[in-house]
Amino acid sequence: MKLMVIGGGGREHAVIRKLKEDPAVTEIYALPGNGGIARDAVCVDIGAKDIPGMVAFAREQSIDFAVVTPDDPLVLGAVDALEAAGIPCFGPDKKAAMIEGSKVFSKRLMEKYGIPTAAYQVFTDPAAALDYVKEAPLPTVIKADGLALGKGVVIAQTRREAEDAVRSIMEDKKFGDSGNQIVIEEFLTGPEVSVLSFTDGNTVVPMVSSMDHKRARDNDQGLNTGGMGTIAPNPYYTPDIAARCMEEIFKPTIAAMRAEGRPFKGCLYFGLMLTPQGPKVIEYNSRFGDPETQVVLPLMESSLLEAMLACRNGTLDKTDVRFSGGCACCVVMASEGYPEAYEKGYEITMDSDVAAQVYIAGAKLEGDRLLTSGGRVLGVTMTAPTLKQAIGAAYEQVEKIHFQNAYYRHDIGSRAMRALEG
Ligand code: AMP
Ligand code: GLY
Repeated sequence: MKLMVIGGGGREHAVIRKLKEDPAVTEIYALPGNGGIARDAVCVDIGAKDIPGMVAFAREQSIDFAVVTPDDPLVLGAVDALEAAGIPCFGPDKKAAMIEGSKVFSKRLMEKYGIPTAAYQVFTDPAAALDYVKEAPLPTVIKADGLALGKGVVIAQTRREAEDAVRSIMEDKKFGDSGNQIVIEEFLTGPEVSVLSFTDGNTVVPMVSSMDHKRARDNDQGLNTGGMGTIAPNPYYTPDIAARCMEEIFKPTIAAMRAEGRPFKGCLYFGLMLTPQGPKVIEYNSRFGDPETQVVLPLMESSLLEAMLACRNGTLDKTDVRFSGGCACCVVMASEGYPEAYEKGYEITMDSDVAAQVYIAGAKLEGDRLLTSGGRVLGVTMTAPTLKQAIGAAYEQVEKIHFQNAYYRHDIGSRAMRALEG
């Protein structure tokens, strides 16, 4: 089978490595891919938002199956366009991708179908929002409605911060039209869990749980980032909680989307918070998480291609989806300064005995040299029978990978270890 994977980050690298294991796969094209992905797939210079470009390429190359992973093309309707051109796809169509594309939509869906989430209000008028935050309990959580590169959420500790957030999102349009509406919601507390799931619109099969580390610096200090590291499984996500999430959140969400005439096919990501009142949804993503994928897929024992085909074809109930009982840790190596200004163009070198899965997120090839080209440069994943071993092994491997101005967190997995050790 000839596959095409849309995107060019560490997540896509992990997806491609896993797809390559399948004997049915003969070729993989990555649009646009990156310098590291180029060692595992054929990179094609077509951007992830260039929908006419990807449709034309898929037709020319007679692509058998397309995997659309990033949020932008999904929300823009890449799957609709490819399917209309006769190219079968993994990923939700535009109507279903609304679950990530609009927080107002997802909050109303949860309210209508009784799915546990933070209490909220929607505002389309900045003056009304500013009035509301004068009285709202603190901290208060302010979210831009649309996509905002993972930066559209502000946890305001003071009224001043809340007002500034409303103004910058709604008046200054910091995220463009994504800020035409905002959600202001209740601040929840508790450990966070990411659960990625396969779904064909009827059946939902959760993958192994994971924990992201979103802040730039150790001990959850510093700015929010796209994610500085992950571990799997998440020790807070016990079998009892998993069973509750299945009944109270996963199945009701799939049924709700079907009832709304927006059946969701693809990977539905549940961002959960385990509050004292039980598990609640913090956010939905219509796609694999990054860097969650970099710990989840290395633990998957069954075929990713078969699971993806089953999501597309509605046969997930008959498909074997299995994960090992092991653990994984991914440490992201970033450029010093990320998520703000950083330098790029430094050569990445690796010792000859690197044993990790190294997933490249931001690097380009120059001749046969790999040069940094992004804030998050790469993720270093190790699997092991225990979480402690996986964390130790990942950090050992990090020492073998070098580039100027490299920065990484030293405490990925330490909160999870504290939970395990009590
Ligand atoms: P999101 O982009 O929706 O994932 O939000 C980013 C981060 O903000 C989440 O991972 C949480 O840590 C935090 N967050 C979002 N909503 C809430 C909430 N209602 N209460 C507390 N923290 C939140
Ligand atoms: N790691 C969070 C996300 O992919 O949105």
